[in-house]
Amino acid sequence: MDKFFSVADIDDLDSVVQEALSLKTNPYNWRELGKNKTLGLVFLNPSLRTRLSTQKAAMSLGMDVMVINMDKEGWALETQDGVIMNGTTVEHIREAAAVMGEYCDILGLRSFPSLKDKEADYTEELFNKFVKFCRVPVVSLESATRHPLQSLTDLITITEHKKVTKPKVVLAWAPHVKALPQAVPNSFSEWMCKAQEQDLVDFTIAHPIGYELSEEFTTGARIVNDLDRALEEADFVYVKNWSSYHDYGKVFPVEGDWLMTNAKLGLTNDAKVMHCLPVRRDLELSSEILDGPNSLVIKEAGNRVWAAQVVLKRMLENLK
Ligand code: CP
Repeated sequence: MDKFFSVADIDDLDSVVQEALSLKTNPYNWRELGKNKTLGLVFLNPSLRTRLSTQKAAMSLGMDVMVINMDKEGWALETQDGVIMNGTTVEHIREAAAVMGEYCDILGLRSFPSLKDKEADYTEELFNKFVKFCRVPVVSLESATRHPLQSLTDLITITEHKKVTKPKVVLAWAPHVKALPQAVPNSFSEWMCKAQEQDLVDFTIAHPIGYELSEEFTTGARIVNDLDRALEEADFVYVKNWSSYHDYGKVFPVEGDWLMTNAKLGLTNDAKVMHCLPVRRDLELSSEILDGPNSLVIKEAGNRVWAAQVVLKRMLENLK
């Protein structure tokens, strides 16, 4: 594996999940693999889980890790070609990425979307430029349109906790006060659609009218606009807010009650509830669920380590 950007970088989902679970059982068996290899983690946006879990995974594989918060510590980056840099940007991504590639064997990049320029966001302009200019394998730590380490984690967590062979998984839109990216739901949806193709889950998306995701990510999913109907017989409910894709980056009032509560949980097959975190309590997800027995959010966050470790292990195995 020389890039981890989307579900397309994994052929057999069950085999990567089983490999991650075996790393969970024996995390330190591969320390020689990463010896004298350096991982650079580049953050253009904040992070808690992605940063710490990826660092931990790399250290368990014997790697050295360097982290840079480019937004706070690095030079202001220019990403456009053909501009005279006489404004606020100081360093072009062409040089910045190339230099980081000189220091590291593998790089990770987090870059959120603008939510203003749909074309630039959905062509993954920044991520693709970084990959091109750094010339080493790159793992996405969340890009404009996807969060593959989170989605792999989610599939690991579902596999660990499922009680039936093919559980019903519902991605449920939730309220928020801010415009959030579509990266997590896009990514979760494309992973679940592929998992459904491989007979691992039965997948439904529930969202209010106006919050349709791009069809690029949802082909094969059952899509409904009635949360209560979607929740019937659900084994897992994945709660997440996102802003509008079609009216790009916009948020607007919705009809009905979209906050997941214990009453709504009663409609399900005693579903486990997931969220990528961070979560705004009692706005996006109720405290009674977060603090109750059906919440998987902490175990899910814990599994971020094994998703990162299996991806880094496969990348290390592929290094020349
Ligand atoms: N879920 C997730 O990616 O968390 P962080 O933004 O804290 O990394």
